Amino acid sequence: MITRTKIAPTGPEFSRLVYGSWRMLDDGASAQDINRRLHRCVELGITTIDTAEIYGLYQVEAALGRALALSPGLRDKLEIVTKAGIYIPHKLNPERKVGFYDASGARLVQSVEHSLHLLGTDRVELFLVHRPDWLSGIDDTAGGLNQLLRAGKIRSAGVSNYSATQFAALNSRMDQPLATNQLEFHLLHMNPIYDGTLDQCQTQRIQPMAWSPLAGGRLFDPGNAAAIRLGKAAAVLSAKYGQATLEQLAYAWILAHPSHPLPVIGTNKIERIESAAHSAGITLDREDWYALWVAAHGHNIP
Ligand SMILES: NC(=O)c1ccc[n+]([C@@H]2O[C@H](COP(=O)([O-])OP(=O)(O)OC[C@H]3O[C@@H](n4cnc5c(N)ncnc54)[C@H](OP(=O)(O)O)[C@@H]3O)[C@@H](O)[C@H]2O)c1
Repeated sequence: MITRTKIAPTGPEFSRLVYGSWRMLDDGASAQDINRRLHRCVELGITTIDTAEIYGLYQVEAALGRALALSPGLRDKLEIVTKAGIYIPHKLNPERKVGFYDASGARLVQSVEHSLHLLGTDRVELFLVHRPDWLSGIDDTAGGLNQLLRAGKIRSAGVSNYSATQFAALNSRMDQPLATNQLEFHLLHMNPIYDGTLDQCQTQRIQPMAWSPLAGGRLFDPGNAAAIRLGKAAAVLSAKYGQATLEQLAYAWILAHPSHPLPVIGTNKIERIESAAHSAGITLDREDWYALWVAAHGHNIP
């Protein structure tokens, strides 16, 4: 069973693994298919679901809402994370000529209210500003987040893809401290361990969320040299960790970081969700964590 964790001193309690919905409609899943996946996640203890306004070209939240409506009571077994702030041209918005970010307070409030409507719920446990918007001032963004917190429409607020300085700036204006920074962090993208964002999470005693923990599937690309080296390293380590697969070791590698990241898993396949759940029980030894670091980089530590 997946353990649970309070991601911030004032933040919500989440499952240690989070189920991501970005690709949820890529395989043509019906509401029943999604409902089945959600039930299996709950059985495995993966109760936190990550979504966003833009996912599936603005279609995923509505699909999740339809799947939740099939099982009254299911929503209350889940913690829902959603995000807003990215607007790209597509057929529902032909007036948009270019993609842009908008983290103005008024836009965030409007987006959250629409997300709640689509999801069929009265609150989300965590709302994230999806990406930094260089045109929204921190007072403006924080004003919208604080308003949503006061209204109980969001139980906690956070950010995604923020640098450490962007995080600190927005956090300075929050009535309730930001609960997380959701970052790209995996064996093929280690920037957060060097750029200060994971250090900041430790300073703030908050847990980051790690998106694309399998590098969006590139970890299995036979044409990717780092992935090939990682496959070989994983084969060497496998027996020691109960015949663990590369994907399980990749999750375990993220889980082992002292900032305690929550991997946001993205597979649509139930058997791969089950396999991910198994990885939560793997504790990598220090040398093995570094062996995977070395394999990813293709050279020894400096
Ligand atoms: N905050 C942000 O800006 C941001 C950005 C991106 C993503 N996210 C969040 O992070 C979640 C996860 O991202 P992700 O989907 O990129 O995660 P991921 O787990 O790194 O990648 C999932 C992809 O890898 C494939 N895959 C998994 N296991 C595989 C295997 N053994 N062999 C070959 N392919 C395999 C999956 O295909 P199958 O479905 O066939 O298994 C799927 O296409 C998203 O759903 C979203 O919630 C957030």
